[in-house]
Amino acid sequence: MASTSTVTTLTIFSLLLFFINLTTSQQISTVDSECTDRWIHIRTLPSRFNLDLLSTCNHYPLTDDLCPYLSNHGLGPKTHTRTRSWYRTDPLLLELIFHRRILEYPCLTPDPNLATAVYLPYYAGIDSLRYLYGPDVNSSADHGSDLLSFLKQDSPEIWARRSGQDHFLVMARPAWDFSQPLTVDPPIWGTSFLERPEFFNLTALTLESRFWPWQEQAVPYPTSFHPHSLPFLESWIRRVRRSRRTSLMLFAGGGGTSSTPNIRRSIRMECTSTNVTVTESEIKTCDFVDCSNGICEHDPIRFMRPMLQASFCLQPPGDTPTRKATFDGIIAGCIPVFFEDQTAKMQYTWHLPEEDFREFSVTIAKEDVVFRGVRIADVLMSIPREEVARMREKVIEMMPRVMYRRHGASIGLMSKKDAVDIAIDGVLDKINSRV
Ligand SMILES: *[C@@H]1O[C@H](CO)[C@@H](O)[C@H](O)[C@H]1NC(C)=O
Ligand SMILES: *[C@@H]1O[C@H](CO)[C@@H](O)[C@H](O)[C@H]1NC(C)=O
Ligand SMILES: *[C@@H]1O[C@H](CO)[C@@H](O)[C@H](O)[C@H]1NC(C)=O
Repeated sequence: MASTSTVTTLTIFSLLLFFINLTTSQQISTVDSECTDRWIHIRTLPSRFNLDLLSTCNHYPLTDDLCPYLSNHGLGPKTHTRTRSWYRTDPLLLELIFHRRILEYPCLTPDPNLATAVYLPYYAGIDSLRYLYGPDVNSSADHGSDLLSFLKQDSPEIWARRSGQDHFLVMARPAWDFSQPLTVDPPIWGTSFLERPEFFNLTALTLESRFWPWQEQAVPYPTSFHPHSLPFLESWIRRVRRSRRTSLMLFAGGGGTSSTPNIRRSIRMECTSTNVTVTESEIKTCDFVDCSNGICEHDPIRFMRPMLQASFCLQPPGDTPTRKATFDGIIAGCIPVFFEDQTAKMQYTWHLPEEDFREFSVTIAKEDVVFRGVRIADVLMSIPREEVARMREKVIEMMPRVMYRRHGASIGLMSKKDAVDIAIDGVLDKINSRV
């Protein structure tokens, strides 16, 4: 216990030094013309809004102890000592990962007046833990009031310039966790950050958005794959292409054990029934990787290997409609099978363009499976081989768009837009379109 907290203190301390060095040298480094309408100013916030919050990483027993995952600027510990590209990443730390990555953005300006967008390096999701699971559970409507008073008091002209329309931040949880109506008393679940009218104009990058158009935009869950160079990414893609796909479909996840009909239960039944281990060409119909009780969460080897060996990865909704596994599967070249549009199509409109969905994914309505007896395997088996091959190529084409490359990556890899680059493009487009 003592050694864990020492390591955590050291991690936080080194982050602190790093950010202090970088913020003081926030400078203009690129040809101006490339940055027209693209300048971003990083708002300097007191450390209580970001780094101080990291020291609470083991305060909330209902969530995992986050402390081990703070290392490597939020990418987490490496999966094994020699890798430079695979980490035990916790998606909750996207706020930290994004903060580190935006420091490499070529069009940063210390002058807010020159900036198109203002980034708030506030670790909103980590701060929300005290409201969701901690001592402030009964005052969750307060989430955001401290930030708001800071923005209105410290250089208030920056916030006032466009009533917050040019401000954005990352909130690394589903938006539902931040959209408790202000008037619900006692609170049911979540904080009211996104329900505060003062914040209606800003843009929040969340892991899952609400279904109606609102101020948030969903961005991909970070996976464990954070390549550091273009040759490494290319060799991974070769491996994904060559991989022998010995199962038709795979489900990696938990749930589905209750007796009420739902899509996870149907998948579990279909995948564990004796009928499915057919072999015609030595192909298993369904591979079931049981991830119950969170055992797969920081252990990518458990599911990445099977995903490399499956043609299709089933992505049913769970507690919320979206799943991190959608992105793990894409990294493995496993074609996603969705059961409702809320899982991805209505969410990741910047990263996974809606018009491409038919080319890289399959959608089977969950009602057809749960209530109308449609067998998923039958649907997938009826897709011609050549089409499956085409879809897999399209999945591989999507891969760079949903991955978060490692900070400090080689110049070659920077030529491929990754999830952060696309999120920044999206924010700037949104802000510019409102001018
Ligand atoms: C929150 O309010 C409920 C109901 O009034 C109470 O039972 C609970 O102890 C409170 N929790 C905290 C952490 O104050
Ligand atoms: C949102 O922005 C518009 C346009 O600048 C402004 O009129 C409005 O007052 C802003 N809303 C809030 C809550 O600040
Ligand atoms: C097993 O598979 C065969 C052939 O596809 C099918 O006719 C039969 O109904 C299946 N049995 C069950 C219990 O699903």
